[in-house]
Amino acid sequence: MLKVMDGKDEEGLRRAGRILQEGGLVAFPTETVYGLGGDALNPDSSRKIYEAKGRPSDNPLIVHIYRWEDVSRIASKVPEEAKKIADAFWPGPLTMILPKADIVPHETTGGLDTVAIRMPSHPAARKLIEYAGGFVAAPSANLSGRPSPTQARFVLEDLDGRVDMILDGGDVGIGLESTIIDLTVQPAQILRPGFVTREMLEDVLGKVEVDATLLRSDINQAPRAPGMKYRHYAPKGDLTIISGPIGQVVAYINEQSGKKAAAGERVGVIATKETRRQYQAQVIKCVGSRQDELEIGRRLYAILREFDEEGVTCIYSEAFFGGGYGQAIMNRLLKAAGHKVVRIGSPDGKKGEGHDSDWK
Ligand code: TXA
Ligand code: MG
Repeated sequence: MLKVMDGKDEEGLRRAGRILQEGGLVAFPTETVYGLGGDALNPDSSRKIYEAKGRPSDNPLIVHIYRWEDVSRIASKVPEEAKKIADAFWPGPLTMILPKADIVPHETTGGLDTVAIRMPSHPAARKLIEYAGGFVAAPSANLSGRPSPTQARFVLEDLDGRVDMILDGGDVGIGLESTIIDLTVQPAQILRPGFVTREMLEDVLGKVEVDATLLRSDINQAPRAPGMKYRHYAPKGDLTIISGPIGQVVAYINEQSGKKAAAGERVGVIATKETRRQYQAQVIKCVGSRQDELEIGRRLYAILREFDEEGVTCIYSEAFFGGGYGQAIMNRLLKAAGHKVVRIGSPDGKKGEGHDSDWK
Protein backbone atom coordinates (compact mmCIF):
# COMPACT_ATOMS: atom_id res chain seq x y z
CA MET A 1 0.00 0.00 0.00
CA LEU A 2 1.28 3.44 -0.91
CA LYS A 3 2.22 5.55 2.07
CA VAL A 4 1.89 9.32 2.01
CA MET A 5 3.91 10.73 4.91
CA ASP A 6 4.39 14.26 6.20
CA GLY A 7 7.72 15.57 4.91
CA LYS A 8 8.41 17.10 8.31
CA ASP A 9 8.01 13.82 10.18
CA GLU A 10 11.43 12.55 11.28
CA GLU A 11 10.32 8.91 11.44
CA GLY A 12 8.81 9.17 7.94
CA LEU A 13 12.04 10.63 6.58
CA ARG A 14 14.11 7.82 8.12
CA ARG A 15 11.78 5.21 6.69
CA ALA A 16 11.94 6.89 3.33
CA GLY A 17 15.76 6.83 3.53
CA ARG A 18 15.67 3.09 4.23
CA ILE A 19 13.34 2.48 1.29
CA LEU A 20 15.87 4.20 -1.00
CA GLN A 21 18.79 2.23 0.46
CA GLU A 22 16.89 -0.97 -0.21
CA GLY A 23 16.36 -0.05 -3.86
CA GLY A 24 12.82 1.37 -3.60
CA LEU A 25 11.41 4.68 -4.89
CA VAL A 26 10.25 7.69 -2.86
CA ALA A 27 8.69 10.88 -4.18
CA PHE A 28 9.74 13.96 -2.19
CA PRO A 29 9.39 17.74 -2.20
CA THR A 30 12.20 20.05 -3.32
CA GLU A 31 12.11 23.84 -3.60
CA THR A 32 11.55 23.56 -7.37
CA VAL A 33 9.19 20.62 -8.05
CA TYR A 34 8.58 17.19 -6.50
CA GLY A 35 11.22 14.59 -7.37
CA LEU A 36 10.97 10.83 -7.86
CA GLY A 37 13.96 9.52 -5.94
CA GLY A 38 16.00 6.33 -6.13
CA ASP A 39 19.55 5.43 -5.05
CA ALA A 40 21.72 7.12 -7.70
CA LEU A 41 24.52 4.58 -7.33
CA ASN A 42 22.24 1.58 -7.82
CA PRO A 43 21.58 0.82 -11.50
CA ASP A 44 18.43 -1.15 -10.64
CA SER A 45 16.96 1.87 -8.87
CA SER A 46 17.59 4.05 -11.90
CA ARG A 47 15.95 1.45 -14.15
CA LYS A 48 12.95 1.47 -11.82
CA ILE A 49 12.70 5.26 -12.05
CA TYR A 50 12.55 5.15 -15.85
CA GLU A 51 9.93 2.46 -15.70
CA ALA A 52 7.77 4.26 -13.13
CA LYS A 53 7.78 7.49 -15.14
CA GLY A 54 7.50 5.81 -18.54
CA ARG A 55 10.60 7.82 -19.44
CA PRO A 56 13.00 7.04 -22.31
CA SER A 57 16.17 5.64 -20.77
CA ASP A 58 18.46 7.92 -22.80
CA ASN A 59 17.22 10.86 -20.74
CA PRO A 60 19.66 11.21 -17.83
CA LEU A 61 18.72 11.76 -14.19
CA ILE A 62 19.96 14.48 -11.83
CA VAL A 63 21.93 13.22 -8.81
CA HIS A 64 20.90 15.08 -5.65
CA ILE A 65 23.42 15.52 -2.84
CA TYR A 66 23.28 17.25 0.55
CA ARG A 67 26.88 18.41 1.09
CA TRP A 68 29.63 19.88 -1.06
CA GLU A 69 32.24 17.20 -0.21
CA ASP A 70 30.23 14.63 -2.11
CA VAL A 71 30.68 16.34 -5.48
CA SER A 72 34.19 14.94 -5.81
CA ARG A 73 32.91 11.41 -5.17
CA ILE A 74 30.65 11.43 -8.22
CA ALA A 75 32.53 13.83 -10.52
CA SER A 76 35.94 12.86 -11.91
CA LYS A 77 37.00 16.50 -12.28
CA VAL A 78 35.76 19.44 -10.24
CA PRO A 79 36.73 22.74 -11.87
CA GLU A 80 37.09 25.94 -9.89
CA GLU A 81 33.86 27.23 -11.48
CA ALA A 82 31.93 24.45 -9.75
CA LYS A 83 33.04 25.61 -6.32
CA LYS A 84 32.26 29.22 -7.22
CA ILE A 85 28.70 28.57 -8.26
CA ALA A 86 28.15 26.13 -5.41
CA ASP A 87 29.22 28.87 -2.97
CA ALA A 88 26.84 31.30 -4.65
CA PHE A 89 23.76 29.13 -5.28
CA TRP A 90 23.86 25.89 -3.26
CA PRO A 91 21.84 24.63 -1.62
CA GLY A 92 19.33 25.79 -4.21
CA PRO A 93 17.70 25.47 -7.64
CA LEU A 94 20.85 24.95 -9.70
CA THR A 95 22.16 21.78 -11.37
CA MET A 96 25.71 21.50 -12.70
CA ILE A 97 27.00 19.07 -15.31
CA LEU A 98 30.47 17.62 -14.68
CA PRO A 99 32.42 14.61 -16.00
CA LYS A 100 31.19 11.57 -14.09
CA ALA A 101 33.21 9.34 -11.78
CA ASP A 102 33.14 5.57 -12.24
CA ILE A 103 30.86 4.90 -9.28
CA VAL A 104 27.95 6.60 -11.07
CA PRO A 105 26.30 3.93 -13.23
CA HIS A 106 25.50 4.69 -16.85
CA GLU A 107 21.91 3.73 -16.05
CA THR A 108 21.71 6.94 -14.00
CA THR A 109 23.32 9.18 -16.64
CA GLY A 110 21.38 7.82 -19.59
CA GLY A 111 24.61 6.41 -21.03
CA LEU A 112 26.50 9.72 -20.84
CA ASP A 113 29.98 10.19 -19.35
CA THR A 114 28.81 13.33 -17.59
CA VAL A 115 26.67 13.63 -14.48
CA ALA A 116 24.12 16.27 -13.44
CA ILE A 117 24.49 17.27 -9.77
CA ARG A 118 22.20 19.37 -7.60
CA MET A 119 22.09 20.23 -3.91
CA PRO A 120 18.48 21.15 -3.10
CA SER A 121 17.62 23.50 -0.25
CA HIS A 122 14.31 21.96 0.83
CA PRO A 123 14.78 20.58 4.36
CA ALA A 124 12.88 17.33 3.68
CA ALA A 125 14.94 16.70 0.55
CA ARG A 126 18.21 17.32 2.38
CA LYS A 127 17.37 14.92 5.21
CA LEU A 128 16.10 12.28 2.85
CA ILE A 129 19.32 12.41 0.81
CA GLU A 130 21.39 12.11 3.97
CA TYR A 131 19.36 9.16 5.29
CA ALA A 132 19.51 7.49 1.89
CA GLY A 133 23.32 7.49 1.90
CA GLY A 134 24.05 10.75 0.12
CA PHE A 135 23.18 10.27 -3.56
CA VAL A 136 19.58 10.37 -4.76
CA ALA A 137 18.76 10.27 -8.48
CA ALA A 138 15.55 12.19 -9.02
CA PRO A 139 13.71 13.37 -12.08
CA SER A 140 10.53 15.36 -11.61
CA ALA A 141 7.86 13.08 -10.11
CA ASN A 142 5.44 13.16 -13.05
CA LEU A 143 4.64 10.63 -15.72
CA SER A 144 6.85 11.37 -18.72
CA GLY A 145 5.43 14.26 -20.76
CA ARG A 146 3.12 15.59 -18.02
CA PRO A 147 3.65 18.89 -16.18
CA SER A 148 6.08 18.56 -13.24
CA PRO A 149 4.19 18.19 -9.93
CA THR A 150 4.13 21.17 -7.58
CA GLN A 151 1.90 19.49 -4.98
CA ALA A 152 1.85 15.98 -3.49
CA ARG A 153 -1.63 15.36 -4.89
CA PHE A 154 -0.30 15.73 -8.43
CA VAL A 155 2.39 13.14 -7.67
CA LEU A 156 -0.29 10.79 -6.42
CA GLU A 157 -2.34 11.41 -9.55
CA ASP A 158 0.57 10.32 -11.78
CA LEU A 159 2.46 7.77 -9.70
CA ASP A 160 0.01 6.00 -7.38
CA GLY A 161 0.99 2.33 -7.46
CA ARG A 162 4.40 3.15 -8.98
CA VAL A 163 6.28 4.44 -5.90
CA ASP A 164 6.78 3.05 -2.40
CA MET A 165 6.23 6.31 -0.53
CA ILE A 166 5.33 9.97 -1.08
CA LEU A 167 6.66 12.62 1.30
CA ASP A 168 4.20 15.50 1.38
CA GLY A 169 5.79 18.92 1.77
CA GLY A 170 2.82 21.00 0.63
CA ASP A 171 3.20 23.47 -2.22
CA VAL A 172 6.73 23.88 -3.57
CA GLY A 173 8.18 27.39 -3.45
CA ILE A 174 9.50 27.90 -6.99
CA GLY A 175 7.43 25.68 -9.25
CA LEU A 176 9.77 25.41 -12.26
CA GLU A 177 12.68 22.96 -12.44
CA SER A 178 16.25 23.94 -11.59
CA THR A 179 18.57 25.83 -13.93
CA ILE A 180 21.03 23.44 -15.57
CA ILE A 181 24.54 24.66 -16.36
CA ASP A 182 27.11 22.60 -18.24
CA LEU A 183 30.61 23.13 -16.83
CA THR A 184 32.25 20.64 -19.18
CA VAL A 185 32.36 23.26 -21.98
CA GLN A 186 34.02 26.68 -22.21
CA PRO A 187 32.36 29.06 -21.70
CA ALA A 188 29.84 27.34 -19.44
CA GLN A 189 26.46 26.83 -21.09
CA ILE A 190 22.92 26.96 -19.73
CA LEU A 191 21.03 23.89 -20.89
CA ARG A 192 17.77 24.69 -19.09
CA PRO A 193 16.75 28.16 -17.84
CA GLY A 194 15.39 28.39 -14.30
CA PHE A 195 15.26 30.44 -11.13
CA VAL A 196 19.02 31.06 -11.21
CA THR A 197 19.24 33.27 -14.29
CA ARG A 198 22.00 33.81 -16.83
CA GLU A 199 22.64 37.24 -15.33
CA MET A 200 23.09 35.75 -11.85
CA LEU A 201 25.50 33.12 -13.21
CA GLU A 202 27.46 35.68 -15.22
CA ASP A 203 27.97 37.72 -12.06
CA VAL A 204 29.88 34.76 -10.65
CA LEU A 205 31.48 33.16 -13.72
CA GLY A 206 31.86 35.88 -16.31
CA LYS A 207 30.59 34.90 -19.74
CA VAL A 208 27.91 32.19 -19.85
CA GLU A 209 26.17 30.97 -23.01
CA VAL A 210 22.63 29.69 -23.46
CA ASP A 211 21.91 26.57 -25.53
CA ALA A 212 20.51 28.17 -28.70
CA THR A 213 17.82 25.54 -29.13
CA LEU A 214 16.04 26.29 -25.86
CA LEU A 215 13.67 29.03 -26.84
CA ARG A 216 13.46 28.47 -30.55
CA SER A 217 12.12 25.68 -32.64
CA ASP A 218 13.50 26.79 -35.99
CA ILE A 219 16.95 25.47 -35.23
CA ASN A 220 17.61 22.10 -36.72
CA GLN A 221 19.70 20.83 -33.87
CA ALA A 222 19.03 18.72 -30.76
CA PRO A 223 19.16 20.48 -27.38
CA ARG A 224 22.19 19.44 -25.34
CA ALA A 225 20.16 18.35 -22.31
CA PRO A 226 18.54 15.22 -23.73
CA GLY A 227 15.34 15.85 -21.76
CA MET A 228 14.76 19.19 -23.43
CA LYS A 229 14.06 17.57 -26.79
CA TYR A 230 10.94 15.81 -25.65
CA ARG A 231 7.55 17.47 -25.72
CA HIS A 232 7.03 18.05 -22.08
CA TYR A 233 4.99 19.76 -19.44
CA ALA A 234 2.05 19.18 -21.70
CA PRO A 235 -1.58 19.48 -20.66
CA LYS A 236 -4.09 17.19 -22.36
CA GLY A 237 -5.82 20.10 -24.08
CA ASP A 238 -4.36 21.68 -27.19
CA LEU A 239 -2.38 24.74 -26.05
CA THR A 240 -1.58 27.76 -28.27
CA ILE A 241 0.37 30.84 -27.19
CA ILE A 242 -0.84 34.17 -28.55
CA SER A 243 1.77 36.90 -28.70
CA GLY A 244 1.44 40.57 -29.57
CA PRO A 245 0.12 43.84 -28.11
CA ILE A 246 -1.98 42.78 -25.14
CA GLY A 247 -5.25 44.43 -26.23
CA GLN A 248 -5.11 42.60 -29.54
CA VAL A 249 -4.16 39.35 -27.84
CA VAL A 250 -7.24 39.52 -25.62
CA ALA A 251 -9.50 40.33 -28.57
CA TYR A 252 -8.05 37.48 -30.63
CA ILE A 253 -8.40 34.96 -27.81
CA ASN A 254 -12.00 35.99 -27.17
CA GLU A 255 -12.84 35.63 -30.85
CA GLN A 256 -11.19 32.22 -31.14
CA SER A 257 -12.72 31.01 -27.88
CA GLY A 258 -16.18 31.83 -29.15
CA LYS A 259 -15.58 29.91 -32.36
CA LYS A 260 -14.10 26.90 -30.59
CA ALA A 261 -16.87 26.79 -28.01
CA ALA A 262 -19.43 26.89 -30.81
CA ALA A 263 -17.65 23.90 -32.35
CA GLY A 264 -18.11 21.97 -29.13
CA GLU A 265 -14.68 22.48 -27.54
CA ARG A 266 -14.24 23.32 -23.89
CA VAL A 267 -11.95 26.36 -23.94
CA GLY A 268 -9.53 27.51 -21.25
CA VAL A 269 -7.51 30.73 -21.07
CA ILE A 270 -4.28 31.43 -19.18
CA ALA A 271 -4.78 35.04 -18.16
CA THR A 272 -2.95 37.44 -15.87
CA LYS A 273 -4.23 39.54 -13.02
CA GLU A 274 -4.12 42.50 -15.37
CA THR A 275 -6.32 40.91 -18.05
CA ARG A 276 -8.49 38.23 -16.43
CA ARG A 277 -11.66 40.31 -16.37
CA GLN A 278 -11.44 41.03 -20.08
CA TYR A 279 -11.86 37.42 -21.17
CA GLN A 280 -14.97 35.55 -22.12
CA ALA A 281 -14.27 31.82 -22.10
CA GLN A 282 -15.55 28.80 -20.22
CA VAL A 283 -12.53 28.39 -17.98
CA ILE A 284 -10.32 31.37 -17.18
CA LYS A 285 -7.26 30.85 -14.97
CA CYS A 286 -5.15 33.64 -13.60
CA VAL A 287 -1.48 32.62 -13.53
CA GLY A 288 -0.47 35.71 -11.55
CA SER A 289 0.49 39.31 -12.05
CA ARG A 290 2.93 40.40 -14.75
CA GLN A 291 4.58 42.36 -11.96
CA ASP A 292 5.43 39.12 -10.15
CA GLU A 293 7.20 36.53 -12.30
CA LEU A 294 7.82 34.30 -9.31
CA GLU A 295 4.08 33.92 -8.84
CA ILE A 296 3.65 33.03 -12.52
CA GLY A 297 6.35 30.35 -12.28
CA ARG A 298 4.81 28.94 -9.11
CA ARG A 299 1.31 28.68 -10.61
CA LEU A 300 2.00 27.57 -14.19
CA TYR A 301 2.16 23.77 -13.87
CA ALA A 302 -0.73 23.59 -11.41
CA ILE A 303 -2.89 25.52 -13.88
CA LEU A 304 -2.00 23.19 -16.74
CA ARG A 305 -3.09 20.25 -14.59
CA GLU A 306 -6.26 22.01 -13.45
CA PHE A 307 -7.31 22.42 -17.07
CA ASP A 308 -7.03 18.65 -17.44
CA GLU A 309 -9.11 18.11 -14.32
CA GLU A 310 -11.79 20.40 -15.72
CA GLY A 311 -11.92 18.66 -19.09
CA VAL A 312 -10.57 21.59 -21.10
CA THR A 313 -9.79 20.56 -24.68
CA CYS A 314 -8.41 23.82 -26.10
CA ILE A 315 -6.23 26.34 -24.26
CA TYR A 316 -5.00 29.84 -25.15
CA SER A 317 -2.25 31.59 -23.26
CA GLU A 318 -0.78 35.04 -23.32
CA ALA A 319 2.99 35.11 -24.02
CA PHE A 320 5.55 36.00 -21.36
CA PHE A 321 8.54 37.78 -22.83
CA GLY A 322 11.54 39.03 -21.10
CA GLY A 323 14.98 38.19 -19.95
CA GLY A 324 15.87 36.93 -16.53
CA TYR A 325 13.32 34.59 -15.05
CA GLY A 326 10.91 35.34 -17.90
CA GLN A 327 13.08 33.05 -20.06
CA ALA A 328 12.35 30.08 -17.84
CA ILE A 329 8.61 30.75 -17.88
CA MET A 330 8.48 31.17 -21.64
CA ASN A 331 10.67 28.10 -22.20
CA ARG A 332 8.25 25.88 -20.23
CA LEU A 333 5.20 27.42 -21.84
CA LEU A 334 6.63 26.91 -25.33
CA LYS A 335 7.35 23.28 -24.54
CA ALA A 336 3.88 22.78 -23.12
CA ALA A 337 2.47 24.24 -26.35
CA GLY A 338 4.73 22.11 -28.55
CA HIS A 339 6.06 25.52 -29.75
CA LYS A 340 2.70 26.52 -31.21
CA VAL A 341 2.57 30.31 -31.28
CA VAL A 342 0.30 32.73 -33.10
CA ARG A 343 1.80 36.17 -33.48
CA ILE A 344 -0.61 39.01 -34.01
CA GLY A 345 -0.15 42.70 -34.63
CA SER A 346 3.54 42.34 -35.53
CA PRO A 347 5.19 45.56 -36.72
CA ASP A 348 5.14 44.48 -40.36
CA GLY A 349 1.44 43.73 -40.08
CA LYS A 350 1.93 40.01 -40.71
CA LYS A 351 -0.15 37.58 -38.78
CA GLY A 352 2.16 34.66 -38.28
CA GLU A 353 1.17 31.17 -37.33
CA GLY A 354 3.83 28.76 -36.20
CA HIS A 355 7.10 29.62 -34.66
CA ASP A 356 8.85 31.55 -32.10
CA SER A 357 12.22 32.65 -33.33
CA ASP A 358 11.80 35.95 -31.51
CA TRP A 359 12.59 34.47 -28.14
CA LYS A 360 16.27 34.56 -27.56
O1 TXA B 1 14.47 21.02 -10.24
C1 TXA B 1 14.86 19.96 -10.71
O2 TXA B 1 15.93 19.86 -11.32
C2 TXA B 1 13.98 18.73 -10.50
C3 TXA B 1 13.98 18.38 -9.01
C4 TXA B 1 13.28 17.10 -8.69
O3 TXA B 1 15.29 18.39 -8.51
N1 TXA B 1 14.44 17.63 -11.29
C5 TXA B 1 14.27 17.58 -12.64
O4 TXA B 1 14.73 16.41 -13.22
O5 TXA B 1 13.77 18.47 -13.27
P1 TXA B 1 14.30 15.96 -14.69
O6 TXA B 1 14.84 14.58 -14.81
O7 TXA B 1 12.85 16.14 -14.88
O8 TXA B 1 15.12 16.87 -15.63
C6 TXA B 1 16.51 16.67 -15.74
C7 TXA B 1 17.05 17.34 -17.00
C8 TXA B 1 16.68 16.60 -18.25
O9 TXA B 1 16.37 17.55 -19.27
C9 TXA B 1 17.97 15.86 -18.59
O10 TXA B 1 18.09 15.58 -19.94
C10 TXA B 1 19.03 16.82 -18.08
O11 TXA B 1 18.47 17.30 -16.89
N2 TXA B 1 20.29 16.16 -17.76
C11 TXA B 1 20.53 15.28 -16.76
N3 TXA B 1 21.79 14.82 -16.81
C12 TXA B 1 22.39 15.44 -17.85
C13 TXA B 1 23.70 15.40 -18.42
N4 TXA B 1 24.64 14.61 -17.93
N5 TXA B 1 23.94 16.16 -19.51
C14 TXA B 1 22.98 16.97 -20.02
N6 TXA B 1 21.72 17.05 -19.52
C15 TXA B 1 21.43 16.30 -18.46
MG1 MG C 1 11.04 16.43 -15.72
